[in-house]
Amino acid sequence: MANLPHKMPRKALFVHSICLLSLIPIIEGADPIFRFIECPNTTLSTTSTYARNSPYQTNLDYLFSILSSSSTISTGFYNFVAGRSPTNVAYGLFLCRGDISPAVCQDCVVYASRDVVNKCPWSKWATIWYDECMLRYSNVSMTPSVSFVPELRGGLMWNLQNATNASRLHEVLGENGKRGEEGWERGGAGEEEDATPQSSPKP
Ligand SMILES: *[C@@H]1O[C@H](CO)[C@@H](O)[C@H](O)[C@H]1NC(C)=O
Ligand SMILES: *[C@@H]1O[C@H](CO)[C@@H](O)[C@H](O)[C@H]1NC(C)=O
Ligand SMILES: *[C@@H]1O[C@H](CO)[C@@H](O)[C@H](O)[C@H]1NC(C)=O
Ligand SMILES: *[C@@H]1O[C@H](CO)[C@@H](O)[C@H](O)[C@H]1NC(C)=O
Repeated sequence: MANLPHKMPRKALFVHSICLLSLIPIIEGADPIFRFIECPNTTLSTTSTYARNSPYQTNLDYLFSILSSSSTISTGFYNFVAGRSPTNVAYGLFLCRGDISPAVCQDCVVYASRDVVNKCPWSKWATIWYDECMLRYSNVSMTPSVSFVPELRGGLMWNLQNATNASRLHEVLGENGKRGEEGWERGGAGEEEDATPQSSPKP
């Protein structure tokens, strides 16, 4: 019995090793699993795009950096407003699935903020869903308590994956509803004098 591994056919050993190796990226550093994206059809609506190097782009970049760096917080939710000039403000938020670790949440938000720009280039607004998280940004304020109604579609998608701890998700949504009424975290992106970020991730 002790010699059993030596008796295993080479091919079986090989397949076994491949399976073990393929588990590694699932455990850490795997790309999030894309589900859905919603953004304007920029062919039809040229006003729904922003210009290269515009203040909106600056604010959006800043927004993504704040969301990415805030995505390790344990609530799995954060919203932020970048910019002060009303015509250039970028609003954004992310929501991570309730049963994933802060590290996986951050991987997902970092990935999403790049992926959304590739999938919907120059769009003023977009929402992207993965198995692990969703990310949304817009030039228009989305009151978190209201916007969680459409966001629940993301929740339902996650539930279809059968991996969600639904009670944890609702717990998170409940917390967020309350936080949303307190208002948005806000910071400038250097477009005006007061550029000090006021990001204060809460535990
Ligand atoms: C955008 O609209 C154009 C014109 O109607 C259409 O041909 C194209 O398929 C649309 N693109 C998407 C991504 O829906
Ligand atoms: C947001 O962008 C849309 C589409 O370009 C535009 O019609 C709208 O006025 C903008 N809203 C704000 C508050 O800037
Ligand atoms: C999904 O969850 C249900 C209920 O807990 C369970 O019976 C089923 O086996 C799960 N399906 C998968 C694919 O995990
Ligand atoms: C789901 O989350 C709730 C609240 O965080 C927790 O009490 C419960 O044990 C979790 N259930 C599972 C199956 O992980």
